[in-house]
Amino acid sequence: MRFIGNKEQLLERIYQAVLATGVTKGHFCDFFSGTSNVGRFFKEKGFKITSSDLLYFSYVLQKAYISNNNQPTFKKLLQNIKTADNSLFSSPLESVRNYLNNLRGINGFIYKNYTEEGTKNQQHKRKYFTAENGKRIDAIRTKIEEWKQKKLINENEYFVLLASLIESVPFYANISGVYAAFLKQYDPRALKRFEIKPIKFYPGKKEHTVYNGDSMNLINGLNVDILYIDPPYNNRQYAPNYHLLETIAKYDAPKIKGTTGLREYANQKSDFCNKDTAIIALDKIAKTAKYKYLILSYNSEGIMPEKDIMFVLKKYGEVTLQNIDYPRFKSNSNGDSKHKKTIQEQLYILRG
Ligand SMILES: C[S@@+](CC[C@H](N)C(=O)[O-])C[C@H]1O[C@@H](n2cnc3c(N)ncnc32)[C@H](O)[C@@H]1O
Repeated sequence: MRFIGNKEQLLERIYQAVLATGVTKGHFCDFFSGTSNVGRFFKEKGFKITSSDLLYFSYVLQKAYISNNNQPTFKKLLQNIKTADNSLFSSPLESVRNYLNNLRGINGFIYKNYTEEGTKNQQHKRKYFTAENGKRIDAIRTKIEEWKQKKLINENEYFVLLASLIESVPFYANISGVYAAFLKQYDPRALKRFEIKPIKFYPGKKEHTVYNGDSMNLINGLNVDILYIDPPYNNRQYAPNYHLLETIAKYDAPKIKGTTGLREYANQKSDFCNKDTAIIALDKIAKTAKYKYLILSYNSEGIMPEKDIMFVLKKYGEVTLQNIDYPRFKSNSNGDSKHKKTIQEQLYILRG
């Protein structure tokens, strides 16, 4: 998924940094999980994972990929719904996916608030999805919730379906990168017929734990081998930039406002989006949690200056720093440092 700060391209580098510490197995903590890519990677490498994020849609991904160890069978559901011949599909998920992709659209919350047709009589006209795609998202999301209410799907199956929906939305959203704005004209991507896509499974045997909340509240009593932290780098909070994914994940018909139909996010603000509170929060994590190694991913243009980070981390042990050239995330939301095409991703490695 396109996501600011997504570490997909850096996973091997992070892995090399972990291996260099001598830790090859044990408990890995990913406390700013976002797409959950880092947790997934280390789950596949055999680590026990604990992860967390302020965003609920991130929690959905963590539930589907990290704490879920099994391919869903949808046994009960498939006995209760009429699907096309199951033998046509490679897996039960494929069969359910096909059913969802063929639902008739409904005029639900997404259609009514985030499509041009649905908002035509409102003060703010919004063009995040075509009317047809808005209705399809509503129909799929409503059906998943109905199946959960009727106990036709178990918790893992519920989160796998929600994750498939969430992962699919960015392929049809009429945005450039983030949801803080929509495009005036339809991008060709937005005109395609909405379908939910399959997701990958991460089978496993270990018990993994995932949270939706402020990781600062979880550090007391934490005792892990690798504490990996990847907090925001700048003043931009994540919640308003991904508000629509949050609303589709929660589907809680929130009060929304303004041109972009933003939901309230007062309880999803991060200390790391303010340079004064960020350094205090970093100090608190390094001081309070117990770890063999703390690895901080940061960025050469982040609001916490390198010397301040070094000063804080060095209070708790020996620190090394790796710099990695990395392509800049492109979005239309602001124009910081347009000129440089790369930035430096940094890995601070603190031996606890
Ligand atoms: C740089 S992104 C992480 C990207 C992630 N490593 C990935 O590969 O997708 C920062 C994440 O930290 C989350 N976040 C910020 N402050 C947080 C906090 N105090 N507790 C939990 N999550 C937080 C944001 O919601 C965002 O998802």
